[in-house]
Amino acid sequence: MSTKTNIVTVTMNPAIDLACKIPDFTAGKVNRVTQYQTDAAGKGVNIAVLLRKFDLPVIVTGFLGQDNAGIFEKLFTEKGLVDDFIRVPGETRIGIKVLDPSTESTTDINFPGLSPDEEHVEELMRKVGELAEEALIVVIGGSLPSGVSPDVVGRLVAIIKSKGAKAVVDTSGSALVSAIKAGPWLIKPNDDELSELVGRPLKDSRDILDEMRRMNRAGITNVAVSLGARGALFTDGEEELLAKPPKIEPVSTVGAGDAMIGGLVAGVAFGLSLKERVRLATSMSAATVAQAGPSLERLDDAKELEKQVIVEAINL
Ligand SMILES: Nc1ncnc2c1ncn2[C@@H]1O[C@H](COP(=O)(O)OP(=O)(O)OP(=O)(O)O)[C@@H](O)[C@H]1O
Ligand SMILES: [Mg+2]
Repeated sequence: MSTKTNIVTVTMNPAIDLACKIPDFTAGKVNRVTQYQTDAAGKGVNIAVLLRKFDLPVIVTGFLGQDNAGIFEKLFTEKGLVDDFIRVPGETRIGIKVLDPSTESTTDINFPGLSPDEEHVEELMRKVGELAEEALIVVIGGSLPSGVSPDVVGRLVAIIKSKGAKAVVDTSGSALVSAIKAGPWLIKPNDDELSELVGRPLKDSRDILDEMRRMNRAGITNVAVSLGARGALFTDGEEELLAKPPKIEPVSTVGAGDAMIGGLVAGVAFGLSLKERVRLATSMSAATVAQAGPSLERLDDAKELEKQVIVEAINL
């Protein structure tokens, strides 16, 4: 039994999400905001916040802009997250979401992000190496800032593995390709990300499962592929499972993937079997979709759904 208990999440491209409601939003005129909310976000940060709901020890790292780090620092203090982010000159990117209730449309305005230089990247490698020594799991989440090579993700996975920790990666495109080459412990692409990865549309579950088995044989111990409302497929090289979420009234699908990773990682920390991890992760993602915010507010909501998750062995 490993005595390492820390969980580390790495967010190289965090964001400050500003969601605002503007009825009759019109470009080229003065628009009045009736309601707004600002959140410190980024996949690794969101997953870390979820893991703290289980009282697990979580350290967050990655790159943060030194000029607007306050909102992140406040979140980390509130949630009991250990802040090991590298400060980079400039501002963490801001993403504005304009919601217009009259047309039910959303307009996205995305600011440019940070540009960490070679030294920041090397500092992150060193830091993740040190943190991985004492960690059970290191999660790498989200996209890369412009100018950071996708190779960095593969290098991080290799470092994490060399320290005896489990590397979990949730990203897409060339960063995912780079991660996969290094053989992470767990990946969880959705069906679109998987089909981009293999460079062709995926026909059916059998087709997806074949790709999952291929990755598994290539050294990725745990492969999960999420399919939105249809659930997700999982393999750990021994068992192959399909988890179907209960029918819920979807409110916002934002954060469903983060909740799934959060559940899978928490399940490992608690020593759950694959079946139990899959059930926990699926109930958490369904509960997240059934609420308004991107981050699951109440673990109890997931607990209530857990019994309704159907987990079955795949016979394909
Ligand atoms: N409408 C829904 N009802 C119930 N559960 C859902 C619904 N949508 C998603 N889920 C659950 O959330 C999981 C992850 O969803 P999805 O496949 O959309 O992830 P994703 O595309 O990675 O999401 P993200 O945008 O957060 O990265 C699914 O496997 C499923 O268990
Ligand atoms: Mg996702």
